[in-house]
Formats: sequence, structure tokens, C-alpha cells
Amino acid sequence: MKGVILAGGLGTRLYPLTHVTNKHLLPVYDKPMIYYPIETLVNAGVTDILIVTSGPHVGHFLGVLKNGKELGVRHLEYAYQEKPDGGIADALSLAEDFADGDSVMVILGDNTTDADLSGNVRDFTEGALIFLKRVPDPQRFGIAVFDKEDMQKVIRIDEKPKEPDGDMAVTGLYMYDKHVFEIIKRIEPSARGELEITDVNNAYIQDGKLGWAELNGFWSDAGTFDSLYVSNSYWAKKKGDVSSE
Ligand code: G1P
Repeated sequence: MKGVILAGGLGTRLYPLTHVTNKHLLPVYDKPMIYYPIETLVNAGVTDILIVTSGPHVGHFLGVLKNGKELGVRHLEYAYQEKPDGGIADALSLAEDFADGDSVMVILGDNTTDADLSGNVRDFTEGALIFLKRVPDPQRFGIAVFDKEDMQKVIRIDEKPKEPDGDMAVTGLYMYDKHVFEIIKRIEPSARGELEITDVNNAYIQDGKLGWAELNGFWSDAGTFDSLYVSNSYWAKKKGDVSSE
């Protein structure tokens, strides 16, 4: 399995911070944000990694990550998304040559977690696997809707629903088999003009190939001031707890 980190976009919700650098290089406690998804992949045994990025500060990644060796990455590649607002699925489409027929574990570069995904990586065979987490603010996320008869079965995902049908958020960690790239070519831009990852996941549901797992442990995105603060506080406390043991 190969790893893909999506670290593009303009990060407009974090202006003026993202005038300084790319969102994914902003600090989360004592490390640039992107270190966390890289460490999640490396800890899960995925060491062949592509970073897809865009926007005015793309050059900063090389200076920070170099060839990734310090973080345990065996092979690091970069791809450039021409349209920073093309959407998550558009960014993922740039990983097709890199994946080269292999399956991929995808993480949104502003998502940090301490969940151990090595078992999921080991057991993945085909289709797609999404990771869900209960949240207090479901309007902010893709929300998994379950079959009323079979509460284990996800029947659709609603992207940022105004009136959510549940509170299980689709986190920004996904596993896909090689068919993901054909699916991205089939989907159409949403009302906001983006190729949505939620439409990719809904296509896997239509094909009967979407599995899910609950993410164990802390998880947050960091695309807004509030969620960036939540992430910083969690990792600062965790580091403090470890060093005082
Ligand atoms: C994106 C996805 C959404 C998912 C979220 C997780 O939202 O579109 O389905 O729940 O990531 O971080 P966005 O980053 O565009 O707010």
C-alpha cells in the first residue's frame, strides 16, 4: 500500500496565517502540521508517500521535509495541483501514476490522529475503507447515514448537511483500491465547483464496496481557528503527559 497526503488548497479560513505559508506547514504544538499524517502513515507501515500540494507556498514543503528520511519515509514524491480549489478528489487524481495499480491510504494533511492504523493497512484487500468518528458538530463534516434495519451498513454520505441524519463524521483518512482513479474520472463537480471525496465514497457505496471502521483515539482536522486550537491543545497536553511520566 502507498500513502497519499493531500496538502493543497489556499487555507482561506486561516487567513492571515496562510499568507505566511501553506496551512499544512503551520505549527501544531511542536511540529509542522504535516508531520502528523506522515507519522500516521509511517507508523502504519506505509513509507512510500506522495504529497499533493498547491497554492502560493508550495516550495516551502521541500525545505521542511527534504526527502522525508528524518521522518522514516523511504520514498517521498510531490505532485502539484493546478487548481488549488479543484477539490479533494481532484487532488487525489494526481496520484494515479504514483499508485501504479497499488491501493492507497489517503490522509488529508490537516487531519491529526493518534489512532494506530497498521491492522487496517495489513488487512485491506479491495474496495474502500472509511474511518468514522462521533462529533458534536456534524454540520461541519461528511456524515455517514446508516440503514435503519442494519445499523452496521452505511447507505450514503451527506457532505456538510444542514440537517444531519446522524453524528458519525467521515474523517479525512481513507483507503482505496486501484479503482478509485476510474471513479474520480466518472464524478462531476459539486455545486461549489469541486470534485468531492464524498462523491467518490458514495460511488463505492453504490458498487457495494465501502467498508467502515471507527477511528480509535484522538482525531481532529485543523482547517479553522477553532479546530487548529483543538489540535494544538491536544498534542501539547499529550506531549506534556508523556514527558512527565
Ligand atoms: C473534508 C471532507 C469531509 C470530511 C472532512 C474531514 O471537508 O469534504 O467530508 O468530513 O474533510 O476533515 P473540508 O476539509 O473540505 O472541510
